[in-house]
Amino acid sequence: MVVPLGLTLIEAVAPATSANLGAGFDVFGVALNALFDKVTVEKINDEAIKIEVYGEGSREIPVEPEKNTAGIVAMEMLKRARERCGLMIRVYKGIRPGSGLGSSAASAAATAVAINDLLGLNLTPIQLIETAAMGEVASAGSPHADNVSAAILGDFTLIVSREPLEVLKLKLPPNAEFAIVIPEIKVDTRLARSVLPKQVSLSSMVYNIGRAAAFIAGIALNSIEVMGKGMMDAIIEPARAHLIPGLSHVKEAALKAGAAGVAISGAGPSVIALVDSEKVNANEVALVMRDAFKEVGVKSKPLCAKPGCGAQVIGRER
Ligand code: HSE
Repeated sequence: MVVPLGLTLIEAVAPATSANLGAGFDVFGVALNALFDKVTVEKINDEAIKIEVYGEGSREIPVEPEKNTAGIVAMEMLKRARERCGLMIRVYKGIRPGSGLGSSAASAAATAVAINDLLGLNLTPIQLIETAAMGEVASAGSPHADNVSAAILGDFTLIVSREPLEVLKLKLPPNAEFAIVIPEIKVDTRLARSVLPKQVSLSSMVYNIGRAAAFIAGIALNSIEVMGKGMMDAIIEPARAHLIPGLSHVKEAALKAGAAGVAISGAGPSVIALVDSEKVNANEVALVMRDAFKEVGVKSKPLCAKPGCGAQVIGRER
């Protein structure tokens, strides 16, 4: 069947996200309002998926649909389409791949939201998350949904159950702000997942449950201090620490500068600190973290962010 040439182009954006936040491995995620990926999609007559990638780290990103995050999402969504068509997808990267800030999740989420609109699929937010999570396979090797949940829904999200997928969205206290440093080193998510223990001791499990519970209790109590106490992790972070030179030094510096809690962002190498914006200047904490990385010979970029919105369509050209 030939597609009528409606020259429709949909433009969508999705935010950077930080997953885990300490003890919430593969469960917690927060959308960050400081960095975005943008995606445009349009129908093409040729029943193929064509991908172009521009911006941060684009040269390292494969454009073959089956190896590309946006491509995998597009293949899944075309299976649901009533019409048969191809897609031209252009990805504009604002988030560096391999930085631990949900770069692939943002591309996946923006692509899912854009194609949903273009093809009139009317997918529910949960279906969009499921589809976007499949795109994560391209970078992480597994369809983990913590980054894509926050990238689609915005704010803070927690995965209650993976099968069937159930996600809760919570608003963080208004004074929650994040100080982030992005070191100029790359941590491959597959590698960062491969170093994780297959089994954990009962005592570390108890430790992590306490911390994850504290993080959520802190949200309920509007207490950044209690949330910060929850950003400790006895299982995942110790296994990954060797991948980030100077991690303990940077964490210590952030806490000394007044951060309520600090953790590896996602699979790293970025480090994220939670700050009470009524008491502490997040920018100063980010600079202190940058200086701490510098002291161990690692260049890094400081950044501040507040919890942000999820993926959305920002333009339609018909
Ligand atoms: N929860 C995932 C991990 C996030 O830590 O591997 C990857 O961005």
